[in-house]
Amino acid sequence: MIIGVPKEIKNNENRVALTPAGVAELKKNGHIVYVQTGAGINSGFGDETYQQAGATILPTIEAVYAIAEMIMKVKEPIAQEYSLIKPHQLLFTYFHFASSEALTKAMLQQEAVCLAYETVEKSDRSLPLLIPMSEVAGRMAVQEGAKYLEKPSGGKGILLGGVPGVPPARVVVLGGGIVGTQAAKMAAGLGAKVSILDVSLPRLRHLSDIMPANVTTIMSNHYNIREAIAEADLVIGAVLIPGAKAPHLITKDMLKSMKPGTVVVDVAVDQGGCIETCTPTTHENPTFVVDEIVHYCVANMPGAVPYTSTLALTNATLPYAIELANKGWKNACTENHELKKGLNVVAGKVVYKGVADAWNLPLSDVNTILE
Ligand SMILES: NC(=O)c1ccc[n+]([C@@H]2O[C@H](COP(=O)([O-])OP(=O)(O)OC[C@H]3O[C@@H](n4cnc5c(N)ncnc54)[C@H](O)[C@@H]3O)[C@@H](O)[C@H]2O)c1
Repeated sequence: MIIGVPKEIKNNENRVALTPAGVAELKKNGHIVYVQTGAGINSGFGDETYQQAGATILPTIEAVYAIAEMIMKVKEPIAQEYSLIKPHQLLFTYFHFASSEALTKAMLQQEAVCLAYETVEKSDRSLPLLIPMSEVAGRMAVQEGAKYLEKPSGGKGILLGGVPGVPPARVVVLGGGIVGTQAAKMAAGLGAKVSILDVSLPRLRHLSDIMPANVTTIMSNHYNIREAIAEADLVIGAVLIPGAKAPHLITKDMLKSMKPGTVVVDVAVDQGGCIETCTPTTHENPTFVVDEIVHYCVANMPGAVPYTSTLALTNATLPYAIELANKGWKNACTENHELKKGLNVVAGKVVYKGVADAWNLPLSDVNTILE
């Protein structure tokens, strides 16, 4: 198969969909890979490393779209890319169709085959191509929290791990899923006193088994949250209710019970946030202060660490990309139900219920399309 990797052109997107190692693997499987010049530069991969791995460098995005049967990207195509997409061209990338009617209509009109990273789903309902970015965001939440706890950044002026003779900071993590687990692990590793709250007792049991002694597990309810945040130096919001907006576990009123200079990092801000006063911010201007509490609410945290994020993402996407290239999308999706779940729009038809519902479009049966 001919695979094309364009340079991401969405504002501030520094990741790339394929690493030189990925190129080498696809070549080994007999495929041809074209990479747009400069595509990997912001993730630390120059054109020459792609060439050494066996890719051919193309000078323009137009050339990549024109030649490729499968386009591998990170973010959804933006308006200026729409007309470059050919009928039946396979696009393997994040789409998040339910948040853009224009994108949905454009992909239908171009008759593209859109396989969305975010809906590839395992039989246990986990989302293997979202997990790596949650891992990055969870670990980064502690790094950012530690930074904003410093006095010049507006925080209390507390070192997360303390020093001998001085107690460490208290970190409260709301939600013990992927983000919360990674955040708790990092905070504990730095020596902080960590509490992790979740509504799932089995989850708390598991966390209690695997976490070090400086992590306490607590059932998440209004009373316990109120108690925990009153003592906290850093609060990390990491809850998710699939398919719904995040619940406001900390209301504006509750901020008053927290000490001035406390930092809140609401990782769940992309689902509306679990702290009422959080609104999305950007890496250019990541924080704001409400009632003397520093709020960090960047909606695309992994974007700040493109090297790590690119490697984490491509580790997860590459096996699927190889399967798609080896078998063609129809056979691959017929044989692999995880990939079949990723099909959202196919040659002018919506085949994913969430997308059809979001824009009131007719839903076509994916199995009929795969026949
Ligand atoms: N800002 C970013 O850059 C970024 C990056 C990655 C993920 N995220 C977001 O982070 C959030 C968490 O993602 P995840 O992958 O960890 O999800 P997850 O499903 O693995 O974990 C969510 C956890 O929240 C728990 N939960 C639900 N209701 C709760 C409540 N009332 N109190 C306490 N816990 C509760 C669930 O039991 C679950 O363990 C999501 O909204 C995700 O979109 C943001």
